[in-house]
Amino acid sequence: MGADRWDGLIVGPTLVTLADDTGYGLVADGALGWRDGVLTYVGPASGLPAPPETLAHEVTDAGGCITPGLVDCHTHLVFAGNRAGEFEQRLQGASYEEIARSGGGILSSVRAVREADEDVLLAQSLPRARALVADGVSTLEIKSGYGLDLDNERKMLRVARRLGEALGISVRTTYLAAHALPPEYAGRADAYIDATIEWLPQLHAEGLVDAVDAFAERIGFDATQTRRLFASARALGLPVKLHADQLSDGDGAALVAEFGGLSADHVEHTSEAGVAAMAAAGTVAVLLPGAFHVLRETRLPPLDAFRAAGVPMAVATDCNPGTSPLLSLRQAMQLACTHFRLTPEEALRGATVNAARALGLDDRGRLRAGLRADFVHWDVREPAELCYWLGGRLARAVHAGGRPVAT
Ligand code: NIG
Ligand code: FE
Repeated sequence: MGADRWDGLIVGPTLVTLADDTGYGLVADGALGWRDGVLTYVGPASGLPAPPETLAHEVTDAGGCITPGLVDCHTHLVFAGNRAGEFEQRLQGASYEEIARSGGGILSSVRAVREADEDVLLAQSLPRARALVADGVSTLEIKSGYGLDLDNERKMLRVARRLGEALGISVRTTYLAAHALPPEYAGRADAYIDATIEWLPQLHAEGLVDAVDAFAERIGFDATQTRRLFASARALGLPVKLHADQLSDGDGAALVAEFGGLSADHVEHTSEAGVAAMAAAGTVAVLLPGAFHVLRETRLPPLDAFRAAGVPMAVATDCNPGTSPLLSLRQAMQLACTHFRLTPEEALRGATVNAARALGLDDRGRLRAGLRADFVHWDVREPAELCYWLGGRLARAVHAGGRPVAT
């Protein structure tokens, strides 16, 4: 094979390929080879075309399980400070909406982000990103939305890009200036949406925006404002996603589906009509059980309706300082099983195949020759264990684009 040798080959583990649309796609006594960042062989060790040592520069014999690299498709992990005080207030009976309306909540993180310079923001965000990677994440979506002016939104998005470079993983950035109304625009939400529409092409031209998001809610933005922003995203060819129907049914799922959106996220209050619109548009439902858990919500997303309509369900951490200070996607999968009764297989598919789709990525999320060599080698005997253990350290190694990332 000489120069054509693969970069690496692991022989012996169980492969959890998720190759088909149902089932884990298990391959016992498997082999996984890769070269130049792409998977070259995924199958039984007995099917390798030649003796392993002749095929690859580096051959490892190992047990355990290998899954696709996890994809965290919804996070707000670039922020400064924390909101542990609000956690205590909510335990005393205050609601998330009440705290937001009195100037806390998202706006409290906006103050902290505006005060932090780019390096400080990076230094505070890096350990959170590292924690996600250590538990299996090789693709990470990060939203802006705590800057709420041009310079501070730019600062957040730049930090997101720098995190990807620092860790050697894929970071997808989402512009979420329509997250809350900043104090300088109090009472002028339409004018603020005009401003976010003006900033978008500038940040996009700087290579900082992969998608556009908004918070459509009583304490966020209304449907007309969201539509105006989405129309400007569409004019730039940018995909959209939406914080939809989290605290109330505002027809958010149908709205984002109307724009062919990648995903509707949260969706606890989404109606049957919203589910049908998502199914028709191919919009993914991103479930965020961390926020559900922390806010002690009781209203479940319409899970059976998603299943019946064939709406793909993704699972993400929603890592953020207010509603979901969650630093493990595997833990989010665990919460999706316990609170939403997803099967462990649905949860894993939700954090891989369907999460990649929620980001518009079709080169990852499964183990198949020709896809990116993003994979996790776990110290488990069967894939259900990924959702079974709460906490702990299960990932032996995480590879992104064929390279091991430091965990
Ligand atoms: O996804 N709902 C709005 N955005 C975040 C929370 C942001 C915050 O409270 O800082 C969410 O839950
Ligand atoms: Fe969110």
